[in-house]
Amino acid sequence: MRGLSFIMSMSSRSSETLLPGNMALLLLLVMLTACAALPQDMSGKMFTFPQESKTAYVRLTTPRQSLSAVTLCLRTFTDLDRGHAPFSLATPGVANAFVIFGSAKDNEVTMSVRNKEVRFRELGYKTNTWHSFCSTWDSGSGVGQIWLDGKPSSRKYINSGSNITGLINIVLGQDQDEHGGRFNAKQSFVGMMSDVHMWDYTLSPC
Ligand SMILES: *[C@@H]1O[C@H](CO)[C@@H](O)[C@H](O)[C@H]1NC(C)=O
Repeated sequence: MRGLSFIMSMSSRSSETLLPGNMALLLLLVMLTACAALPQDMSGKMFTFPQESKTAYVRLTTPRQSLSAVTLCLRTFTDLDRGHAPFSLATPGVANAFVIFGSAKDNEVTMSVRNKEVRFRELGYKTNTWHSFCSTWDSGSGVGQIWLDGKPSSRKYINSGSNITGLINIVLGQDQDEHGGRFNAKQSFVGMMSDVHMWDYTLSPC
C-alpha cells in the first residue's frame, strides 16, 4: 500500500516531547494493512503548542504533488473554545486545500477541501479531553466525512472532479491563509497533538 513520506520541521515555539525541537526528520508513513497495523513513525509522538501565537507550528512537506483522496487522523487536547486549526494543508493558490477546523463553543468541526468548506455539527467536540479525529475525502465522489472519537458524522458533498494538486505544504497548529504563511494567532491551536497520520486514499474506520 502507498503511504506518504514527509519532511518535518518545527518552529522554536512548538515542541515535540519525544525528540528535541528544531530537527528535520524524514518521516515515512507506511500503513501495512488498513486497520490492524500501526503506522511506523508519528505514532505516539506528541507535539505541544503551549501558548496562543502565530509563530508556533510544525511543518510537513511531501514530494507528492497530486492527491485524489485523503485520509487524515490525529488526536488533540485543548482548552480553547474558540475556533482553531490543528491541521492545514495548502497548495500555491489554494490556501484551504485540506483543512480541519474545530470549535468547542459551536460544537462543530469544519472540513475544507480545495477552498470549499462544510460544517459537521453536534459531534461532541469539547474542551479538556483527548479527541481523535479522522477525516476522509475523495475526488471521485467529492464526499467528505469525519469520525470524532470513532463516531461517524454525516457524509457530505464537498468538492469533486479534481485532485489536490501542486506543492503541498502542511502546517500543524496554524491556519495557512496563504501557502506557507499568513497565520492568525486567533485561529492557532493551543494544546497537545499526537498521532498525526495521513494517507492518499480513503480508509474505512475500524
Ligand atoms: C490524481 O491523482 C492520482 C494519484 O493520487 C493520479 O493517479 C491521477 O493521475 C491524478 N489525476 C489528475 C487529473 O491529475
